[in-house]
This record gives sequence, C-alpha cells and structure tokens, in this order.
Amino acid sequence: MIQKFFNWLKQPLGLIASGIVFLALVSAVVYGIWRTQQAPEQPIQFPHKTHVNFGIQCLYCHPGAARGPAAGIPSQAKCWACHNQIVKTRDSALLAPLKDAVLSGKSLEWVPVAIVPDFVHFNHRPHIAAGKNCEECHGDMTKVTVAQNPQDMTMGWCLNCHIKNAGDDQEKLVKLTDCGTCHY
Ligand code: HEC
Ligand code: HEC
Ligand code: HEC
Ligand code: HEC
Ligand code: HEC
Repeated sequence: MIQKFFNWLKQPLGLIASGIVFLALVSAVVYGIWRTQQAPEQPIQFPHKTHVNFGIQCLYCHPGAARGPAAGIPSQAKCWACHNQIVKTRDSALLAPLKDAVLSGKSLEWVPVAIVPDFVHFNHRPHIAAGKNCEECHGDMTKVTVAQNPQDMTMGWCLNCHIKNAGDDQEKLVKLTDCGTCHY
C-alpha cells in the first residue's frame, strides 16, 4: 500500500499533487506568522502615536497601571470630553465610530492585544513601583497606530526579567521565580 503510494507520488500527477500540498503548507505557515504580527481589527484605528506625541500621558488613559492589576482602557466618555472640543477632527471619518457610540450609548469593543492566560496573575502595580517603564514591556508607543505586542508574553519572558532583576539577592530570586507568585 505505502509502496504503491510512493510510486504514485513519482508519477507526474503525483508530483503536481505533492507540489500543491507543499505550497499550501508553506503558505499556511507564512500566513500564521503574518497573522500573529498584525495588530487586530479594532473598532477605531486609534492612533497612539498622535496622542502620545501630543503629550498625553499613558497613565491619563491607563491609570489602573499604577494602582493595581489592570491598566484599563479609557471610556468613550473620556475620549469625547476631548474630541467634542477639537473642531479640526470633529467630522473626521476616523472618529465616526466614536461619535456613533457616544450618541447611541453603545460601547466600543476594543480587542485585547497584551494579554496572558487566565491562570496567570499579572499585576501592573509592583512593576511600576519597581520603576519599570511601560515601554519595556509594550514597546515604543510613539511609533504605533493600533497597539501591538512587541513580543509574546510567555513564561520565559517573565522569568528572564525576574531573574535579571533579582541579581544576587537570593530571597528575591526565590520569590520572583516561585510558581505561586504567578500561578495561584
Ligand atoms: C486629552 C485629549 C484627547 C483625548 C482624551 C483623546 N484624544 Fe484623540 N486626539 C486628540 C488630538 C489633539 C488629536 C490630533 C488632532 C489633530 O490632528 O490636530 C487626536 C486625534 C485622534 C484621532 C485621529 C483623527 C484624524 O482624523 O486624524 C482619532 C481616531 C482619535 N483621536 C481617537 C480618540 C479616541 C478613540 C479616544 C479615546 C480612547 C481619544 N481620541 C482620546 C486628543 C485627544
Ligand atoms: C488618549 C488615550 C490613550 C493614551 C494617551 C495612551 N493610550 Fe494606550 N490605549 C488607548 C486605547 C483607546 C486603546 C485600545 C485600542 C488599541 O488597542 O489600539 C489602548 C491600548 C493600549 C494597549 C493594548 C491594550 C490591550 O487591550 O491589550 C497598550 C499596551 C497600551 N495602550 C499602552 C499605552 C502606553 C504605554 C501609553 C503611553 C506611551 C499609552 N497606551 C497611551 C488609549 C490611550
Ligand atoms: C513588566 C511588564 C509590563 C509593564 C512595565 C507594563 N505592562 Fe501593561 N501589560 C503587561 C502584561 C503582561 C499585560 C497583560 C495582562 C493580563 O492579561 O492580565 C499588560 C496589559 C496592559 C494593558 C491591557 C489590559 C489591561 O491591563 O487593562 C494595558 C492598557 C497596559 N498593559 C498598559 C500599560 C501601561 C500604560 C504601562 C505603563 C504605565 C504598562 N502597561 C506597563 C506587562 C507590562
Ligand atoms: C521587564 C522586566 C519584567 C517583566 C517582563 C516581568 N516582570 Fe514581574 N516583576 C519585575 C520586577 C522588577 C518586580 C518587582 C520586584 C521587587 O519586588 O523588587 C516584579 C514583580 C512581580 C510580581 C510581584 C511579586 C511579589 O510578590 O512581590 C509578580 C506577581 C510578577 N512580577 C509577575 C509577572 C508576570 C506574570 C510577568 C509576565 C507576564 C512578569 N512579571 C514580567 C520585572 C518584570
Ligand atoms: C514570573 C511569572 C511566572 C512564574 C514564576 C511561573 N510561571 Fe508558569 N506561566 C507564566 C506565564 C505568563 C504563562 C503563560 C504563557 C506561556 O504559556 O508561556 C505560564 C504558563 C505555565 C504553564 C502552561 C504552559 C502551557 O504551555 O500552556 C504551566 C504548566 C506553568 N506555567 C507552570 C509553572 C510552574 C510549575 C512554575 C514554577 C516552577 C511556574 N509556572 C512559574 C508565568 C510564570
């Protein structure tokens, strides 16, 4: 049976068929890699670079990062408080979904970008308290439009930084690499 199949593969038709299978596999892999590096489809192409370069602080829009586990995404009321007054962009097509949401009372559904699985407990607060910059984990937001992840947020990524930060402090090393610190 197997022998027969290999003989068939050597026939012209078989060669064409294997060629097609090979190309399909390659394009599936390439598409997969491309997908994971694309920013997701968001309700608004929110331009981080415009806002950050304008001088608006990260913590103005994501105040939870200094206070607790989640940084939070600003409400549309917060967006509108500003945009209601910016005449230049009031009729911008980019802002139309915001206006619709405010007028209809529906919420914008932002797609999460930076996320770890539910069984991992990440908390922003100790990181900000230890002097870590947003940029170290989220990349340079003065250059991006829709937020993207600069790296996969894997366990190895967390541990590498924890080990580096513990240095020679054994007690800290034990705490920052203990399974129960991130999984409980
Ligand atoms: C503190 C004020 C402020 C807040 C809050 C704010 N923006 Fe903006 N936004 C600006 C400024 C300033 C610009 C640039 C306007 C210009 O081009 O001169 C801008 C530009 C934009 C643009 C690009 C418009 C265009 O036509 O180029 C979009 C889209 C946008 N903001 C969406 C939002 C959303 C969504 C929120 C809420 C998450 C928000 N903004 C919150 C000040 C603000
Ligand atoms: C004017 C408000 C505003 C400012 C200022 C702002 N952001 Fe955001 N941020 C948003 C909005 C709205 C989203 C959701 C849209 C998106 O993911 O692109 C977001 C999404 C993000 C995300 C992805 C969140 C997720 O859902 O996974 C990260 C990370 C982030 N911001 C970091 C930053 C950092 C770091 C700064 C400062 C350099 C900053 N932001 C400044 C409004 C803001
Ligand atoms: C040590 C790395 C690290 C630093 C520093 C950091 N973040 Fe995050 N951030 C993460 C991780 C990990 C997640 C995913 C958390 C989750 O899924 O529970 C995240 C999620 C987010 C989100 C989306 C979900 C949420 O928490 O509401 C936003 C927005 C965000 N971060 C903004 C910021 C801002 C603003 C700063 C700086 C003030 C900052 N982060 C600093 C690692 C970091
Ligand atoms: C860029 C470096 C860096 C990365 C990446 C990072 N951390 Fe941390 N983490 C720190 C530092 C620094 C501290 C504070 C250590 C101290 O107490 O001095 C900390 C503290 C913590 C704490 C609090 C420990 C305690 O009990 O005091 C938790 C929980 C934690 N990190 C989870 C995570 C998780 C989960 C990830 C990955 C999703 C992560 N961290 C990624 C640097 C990092
Ligand atoms: C600094 C935070 C941190 C510490 C400490 C930590 N983990 Fe994790 N762990 C994570 C993150 C983040 C993920 C999810 C991302 C991933 O799968 O890489 C994860 C995922 C896992 C998974 C699921 C793997 C998978 O492929 O789905 C297991 C199992 C796990 N951890 C076990 C452990 C054990 C056992 C320890 C102690 C020796 C430990 N972790 C310590 C952050 C941590």
